[in-house]
Amino acid sequence: MSNIGSGVAITYWQEVMKKLENKMNRMKDQIGEKCPHFAGEDGKYDNIHTDWWTSGFWPGMLWIMHDMTGDKAYRDAAWSWDEMLEQWLVKPTVELHHDVGFQFLSTAVIKYKITGDEDGFRRGLEAANFLAGRYNPAGQFIRAWNGDKYGWAIIDCMLNISLLFWASEVTGDPGYKHIAIRHAETTMQYGVREDGSTKHILSFDPEDGHYIESFGGQGYSPDSTWSRGAAWGLYGFANTYRHTQDVRFLNTAKRIAHYFISALPEDSVPYWDFRLPSLEGQSRDSSAAAIAASGLLELASFVPEGEKRLYADAAERILRSLTENYAVWDQPEHESILLHATGSGTSFIDVSLIYGDYYYLEAIAKLNGWKHRVY
Ligand code: GLY
Repeated sequence: MSNIGSGVAITYWQEVMKKLENKMNRMKDQIGEKCPHFAGEDGKYDNIHTDWWTSGFWPGMLWIMHDMTGDKAYRDAAWSWDEMLEQWLVKPTVELHHDVGFQFLSTAVIKYKITGDEDGFRRGLEAANFLAGRYNPAGQFIRAWNGDKYGWAIIDCMLNISLLFWASEVTGDPGYKHIAIRHAETTMQYGVREDGSTKHILSFDPEDGHYIESFGGQGYSPDSTWSRGAAWGLYGFANTYRHTQDVRFLNTAKRIAHYFISALPEDSVPYWDFRLPSLEGQSRDSSAAAIAASGLLELASFVPEGEKRLYADAAERILRSLTENYAVWDQPEHESILLHATGSGTSFIDVSLIYGDYYYLEAIAKLNGWKHRVY
């Protein structure tokens, strides 16, 4: 059982895990062959193209459930996803980009970690090679998205670089991790402000690598803090510390965590941006809350006993609020777990998003002693 969750609350988290198991059993049948991304008011997940960046999250949830319960039905449902995604590494698509980390860590790599499957291993490495190929040595960043923005890097990519740390670990080749570390340093230097708030898009000259400016991206403005971006940063720098033991990354994760925690509204679930001029009519982003909670649990596991509770308590407050105010438990026809997620200020507003569901499940699994790590 987890040594992160507080003793008194452990039964509560066990009960939540049980509820999640019931929910996931239903979702497995409801989602079936779909590749889910978002669900609107009717509670039905859509079925997007499997090259889209979110395609790894549903299979990732199935792998976590298999690992937690030993139930082979989850494993069977998750098994072929990495093969399905592999086709996009060889077929023409404009969708595959820096987010191969999200897509292959929660399919190929976790499959390999749990089952030892050699195809999962190979596909994970293929994806790592693809990601490494996006590195710009002049600017020392991994390029975001496709199109002609060759000089863009984004805070979200801090989660994707775990694929490179994994590739170095399993091959013994430090080249992958050098790229990951350089990218993290660049994001730390230009993407995290002194007060721990974060920027979304960083723009560099792709020829000589100098930093030009930042853009608001999915957040409100260049000077604001997109709450999910902050959550990606928090979790990503915590992982980077785990992979490197470099205290600069731990301190950066802490800085973002302190900003994130102190900027939360009363129910511990952020609005989609922390620096909106007015909150009237603005939507929450439960996915940002779930990602941050999972990252805070990592952070709690790296710090001395006295500090641990700061991060673990914040994670548990967020997860309690999600469990009691944002999760759908009593409408069996509803396919998602969390309501009130927001993709950005202009798209997917106040919906359910599969990555919100993924990180919520991942965090609850951690509180119930789950030992494998996707990132
Ligand atoms: N691409 C990651 C996100 O929208 O959060």
